[in-house]
Amino acid sequence: MSLYVRGRPVDADIDAIVGQHGFAVETHTTTTEDGHILTLHRIVGVNGVRAGAPVVYCHHGLMTNSELWVLGDATERCLPFKLVAEGYDVWLGNNRGNKYSNTHARWDLEDKEYWDFSIDEFARYDIPASIGYILQLTGETVLKYVGFSQGSSQLFASLAMNRELNGKIQHFTAISPVLVPQRLTHPVVAPLMLNPHYIEYIFGPKALLPFVPTVNSWLPSGLFNKVIDVSLQVLFQWNGINIPQSQKQVGYPHLYSTSSVKSVIHWFQIIRDQQFQLFNNTQSYNTSNIDTEVLLIYGDADCLVNIEKTCESLQSCKVETVRCPSYEHMDTLWAKDVENRVFNVILDKYRDIDGGREAIKSSGSLFL
Ligand SMILES: *[C@@H]1O[C@H](CO)[C@@H](O)[C@H](O)[C@H]1NC(C)=O
Ligand SMILES: *[C@@H]1O[C@H](CO)[C@@H](O)[C@H](O)[C@H]1NC(C)=O
Repeated sequence: MSLYVRGRPVDADIDAIVGQHGFAVETHTTTTEDGHILTLHRIVGVNGVRAGAPVVYCHHGLMTNSELWVLGDATERCLPFKLVAEGYDVWLGNNRGNKYSNTHARWDLEDKEYWDFSIDEFARYDIPASIGYILQLTGETVLKYVGFSQGSSQLFASLAMNRELNGKIQHFTAISPVLVPQRLTHPVVAPLMLNPHYIEYIFGPKALLPFVPTVNSWLPSGLFNKVIDVSLQVLFQWNGINIPQSQKQVGYPHLYSTSSVKSVIHWFQIIRDQQFQLFNNTQSYNTSNIDTEVLLIYGDADCLVNIEKTCESLQSCKVETVRCPSYEHMDTLWAKDVENRVFNVILDKYRDIDGGREAIKSSGSLFL
C-alpha cells in the first residue's frame, strides 16, 4: 500500500499515521524511578493482540520519537507493521523529554530540573522502566529489542550498567549502531567538540531547538524539507541519495522531537574523547558486562558508525554484522531497498529464533 498523506502531514500524530496504514495504537504510560512519565505505543493489527505473542520493543534515535518507526512511505516499508503481520506483539518506546514523554511527577517543562538528563538517565531509568512495564503487562520473561542509532546506544549503556537486564533481552538488533561516532569535521561543530559545555551557553540548559515544530508548521513543506536536507548535508555530509523523494516528504516533517541540551553535550563529550563514557567522563560504560546476542546492521557510508570499534567493544557477546553498501545513517530505515537490506534480514533472524509465523500463531491462544 502506498501512503497518501492528507492535509498537512506535520500535524498528524502517531495514531493518525498508524491509522492510515490500517493499524491502531494503544497508549500506555510508565513512571521511572526518578519521576519521568514515559509513553509506550503498542501497535495493534486488525485481529488485536494475541496473548502469548513474543514481544518486540523498538526504540527511536536522538531527537526523534516513536513515530520514527512508522514513517515509511508504504506499509511494507515500516518495520513494526511487518512484525505485527508476522505475529509479534510490537511496542515502541519514547525517551523522556520528547513529544510523547513530556510530563514529570514533580517538574514542569519550564523547570530547568526537568531537562537535567543525558544518555545516562535514558540508560539508567528509561530503558529498564519501559522494558519492565511491557514484560509485566504481557507476562513474558524476555523480549527482542530493536534500536535505531541512539536507541541502540541506550541499550548498550543500559546493559553495561545493569547486568540483570541482559537476561531480559533475548536478542538485540542495533540498526545504524552508535557507540563512539567518528569526529565531525564541520567548521561550526568542530570547535564545540573541544568544549561541549559551550553548547549550553548557546542553547541554554533546557530543551534543544524547541521551536522546530513551530517553524515546521509555518514553512511550506517543500522548503522545510530542503532545510533538513541541507542541514544534514552540511553537518554530517549525508547526501540522502538512497532515499526516495516520497520518503523524505513523509518522513522529514516527523523527524525532529525535543531532547535535552545535556544529552547533546554528552554526545559531544563521547566524540571528543572517543570513549563510550558517562556524562562528564566520570567513567567508561563497561561493555564487558553485555552478553546479549547482537545483530549490527550498518551502512558503510555512515560517518557516525565506527564498526571496528563497535565490534571491539562487544567482545563478551555473540555479534553478527550485516553491512549495507553505500548506506548512510538514515538509509537503514528509509532507503529505497531497505525492505530487503534491513527489515527482511531482521525477520529472517526472528524466524530462526521463533520458527516463523505459523509457529508463533499456534503458540499463543487467546486474543486480548
Ligand atoms: C560537568 O562538568 C561541568 C564543566 O566542568 C560542570 O560545570 C558541571 O557541574 C559538571 N556536571 C556534573 C553533573 O558533573
Ligand atoms: C567490567 O566488567 C567485567 C565483566 O563483568 C569485569 O570483569 C571488569 O572488572 C569490569 N571492569 C571495570 C573497569 O569495572
